[in-house]
Amino acid sequence: MPRNFSLKTKCVNIGIGSDKAYAAITPPLYLSSTYKIPALGEVGDYDYGRSGNPNRDVLAKVIADLEGGAGAVITSSGMAAIDLALNLVPDGGLILAPHDCYGGTQRLLLARQKQGRDSVEFIDQTTKQSFDQIRSKKVDLVFIETPSNPLMRLSDIACLSKAAHEVNALVVCDNTFLSPARQQPLSLGADIVVHSTTKFINGHSDVVGGAIIAKTDNLSEQLTWWANCTGSTGAPFDSFLTLRGLRTLHARLDVQEANAIKIADFLNGHSMVERLYYPGLELDPGFALAQRQQSGPGSMLSFELATDRDGVALFLRDTNIFQLAASLGGTESLICHPSSMTHGSMDAIAQEKAGISQTLIRLSVGMEHINDQLDELETLFNKLGAK
Ligand SMILES: Cc1ncc(COP(=O)(O)O)c(C=O)c1O
Repeated sequence: MPRNFSLKTKCVNIGIGSDKAYAAITPPLYLSSTYKIPALGEVGDYDYGRSGNPNRDVLAKVIADLEGGAGAVITSSGMAAIDLALNLVPDGGLILAPHDCYGGTQRLLLARQKQGRDSVEFIDQTTKQSFDQIRSKKVDLVFIETPSNPLMRLSDIACLSKAAHEVNALVVCDNTFLSPARQQPLSLGADIVVHSTTKFINGHSDVVGGAIIAKTDNLSEQLTWWANCTGSTGAPFDSFLTLRGLRTLHARLDVQEANAIKIADFLNGHSMVERLYYPGLELDPGFALAQRQQSGPGSMLSFELATDRDGVALFLRDTNIFQLAASLGGTESLICHPSSMTHGSMDAIAQEKAGISQTLIRLSVGMEHINDQLDELETLFNKLGAK
């Protein structure tokens, strides 16, 4: 495909019409775990499914292009992508991560520390002090997650990367909440991007997968080596489905984001909403930074319900559109209680430090008609009024 095609075109067209066997328009699915070697001592394009697979490769190529990277590895989950990045930290190395990152990331970093592999410090990366904190330590890896899950806090990728590079630390950025359709961390200074492709990239809540994208060939080769060594590469069928989902990424996000903006307007100033977290709102602390480093606010938002734990349970019961479930980024809307669900693995102290309260609600806004979404939210709030 010509290099100068737009990213939207690349998403839609990658692999189309490339089948050499039957000229199938969409790329065929290759499930074979092994491949015939032409002759002893010779190598074909592929030899073994853990090391390489055509469906994984076509997906990796387009995700690397979308993020502006030299190469990408498709992994079996978002956590496998994050774990792959940790292989680049030397034994006993120091990782700085946000105190309010995804609960699973925090669990993994703490578990690795407990094993004695490396140590981790959780800091508030939204403040200017965090740049000095990075500079003042012998840091090996700075892990960024922006917008953060679930509080939609933004951290400055360019400033954090600059500080990290001054002390020769590697910068890994989790771009799951926006996708490359809204934010490209490598162009802002990060060295590596990770994704839970389970979310926006696949976008249909039917695959668990991940991707890790490297800025340089050297980093890409190291990650590819580790992925083959540890066997964390993704399955062919998952890659096939994820590519199918990815083709509509931009269109999906346009609709979901437009709905989220209207929902944020509805929630903003609502008597039952104590606080709203959405970087698309001018009053949000992340608004100015979002204008600089994102090309849109995205379709995730969180809010504090002005009620107690029982009120939260009532609010979340019997929903029709906003299904009560973990995960995000699919075409369908989801509602979640981070404290007991996505961030349930964090202890009470860590949750409090991160600002995750018992009354915090997270929405992943989907593609349903906005009027139906707003009607449902109105109904949920009315239940609280009737309590
Ligand atoms: C920001 C973020 N990163 C990583 C992950 C882990 O992804 P996976 O569930 O695909 O392993 C998640 C999962 O929710 C997430 O929200």
